[in-house]
Amino acid sequence: MELYDGLITRRSIRSFKPDPIEREQVEELVRAGMYAPSAVNCQPWHFIVIDERQLMDQVMEIHPYAGMLREAQYAVMVCGDEKLEHAPGYWVVDCGAATQNILLAAHSKGIGAVWLGLHPREERKQGMSKLFGLPGHIKPFAMIALGYPNEEKPVPERFKRERIHYNRW
Ligand SMILES: Cc1cc2nc3c(=O)[nH]c(=O)nc-3n(C[C@H](O)[C@H](O)[C@H](O)COP(=O)(O)O)c2cc1C
Repeated sequence: MELYDGLITRRSIRSFKPDPIEREQVEELVRAGMYAPSAVNCQPWHFIVIDERQLMDQVMEIHPYAGMLREAQYAVMVCGDEKLEHAPGYWVVDCGAATQNILLAAHSKGIGAVWLGLHPREERKQGMSKLFGLPGHIKPFAMIALGYPNEEKPVPERFKRERIHYNRW
């Protein structure tokens, strides 16, 4: 898949086939996350790979819009590390880039994925911190559900020329 086509055709996938995903494949996706740009190249991230059904169920109890985890083969939680970030607040931006990289890598390999927001919802972050036993300086950023797609989505028209401003507002 050509990179630009991948950027345009990626869609959130929320229905998954029961086909298993190899753990090595998930690590390839996380590897793509680790190649995201980050401020001063601090790479202030950690990734929790989840394939235990009971944990997925517990995540669904905390997160109100994560029902697709019922069918997901894996979930990856992207977390920021306040001890590694360049300056306060940067982990959020860096983890966003890592999350998007994982979504795009999944799409490039025919794996469906959806970003489940955690940050900045404090109740979700607290729930995940407790469930996964995160140290205080490790902050949940997003959960990514993964599985082979059981739905196809067309490319919507999103280009808005009026949102482009040349040289000044
Ligand atoms: C910060 C953020 C939080 C999101 N949270 C959820 C979520 O909790 N549940 C969900 O099903 N999708 C979630 N999404 C996916 C969006 O709904 C989706 O990206 C958007 O509708 C655009 O669709 P597309 O990804 O197919 O282009 C989230 C996306 C972002 C960027």
